[in-house]
Amino acid sequence: MGRKDKRWILKRKKDFYYNLAKKLNYRSRAAFKLFQLNEKFNIIKPGNIVVDLGCAPGGWLQAARELVGEKGFVVGIDLQPVKSLGYDNVKAIKGDFTLEENILKIKNLLPDKADVVISDASPNISGYWDIDHARSVDLVKTAMQISTELLKERGRFLAKVFYGDMVDDLVKLAEKYFEKVYISKPRASRKESAESYIICKRYTGKKWEEEDKIKRIKKEENNEDDELLIKKIRAMKK
Ligand SMILES: C[S@@+](CC[C@H](N)C(=O)[O-])C[C@H]1O[C@@H](n2cnc3c(N)ncnc32)[C@H](O)[C@@H]1O
Repeated sequence: MGRKDKRWILKRKKDFYYNLAKKLNYRSRAAFKLFQLNEKFNIIKPGNIVVDLGCAPGGWLQAARELVGEKGFVVGIDLQPVKSLGYDNVKAIKGDFTLEENILKIKNLLPDKADVVISDASPNISGYWDIDHARSVDLVKTAMQISTELLKERGRFLAKVFYGDMVDDLVKLAEKYFEKVYISKPRASRKESAESYIICKRYTGKKWEEEDKIKRIKKEENNEDDELLIKKIRAMKK
């Protein structure tokens, strides 16, 4: 184990929310981010139908289940498998949410249109700030587009985004589809992390416009593109 890894483990052991999550049996410290955002913005209500895009290991699923209660319904999707949470009204499927076929699977599981779509998904981290910021914004745009397919009118959307100069345009885009848009960073989000959350309320029912669609690239192509870009940036820095 490298020195950096050891430092990270030590830091995690001292982390308040990490310890609290262990104590209260949440699968991630991120559960508290959702609780805190919910306190402030009243996103998930009892009886709601919630979709969680990028849900593993399941901390948000647990938090969402507590907020919707017995009468609500929660369905999540992740590239990674999620161990069952043991509730009849919580489902998790394995898959890539940027693929149409997986959104169809979610639609088939939903008892009705969703009240809320949440996404804590992170892109693959390249370590290059501009690339990671752009990828994060693209992932949120994709999640937002999906939310317009799944939500009821006046529904809500919440997603993690790495803060940076493209967030202003992301907010403008969100304002085309939602009446209220906010950016917030919950207390449980580490100060040194660039993550923040976009909260969109009152979906207008407007269909996603062609001009707002982002180019969906196959994973292999994506990696090749990034490798090329990283080579170019490295060459520039020499
Ligand atoms: C920070 S974790 C989510 C943690 C979760 N909110 C919790 O509390 O347990 C981000 C997740 O997003 C998933 N993810 C990223 N891109 C995805 C995609 N295109 N489709 C499905 N899952 C994705 C990753 O596999 C990862 O498990």
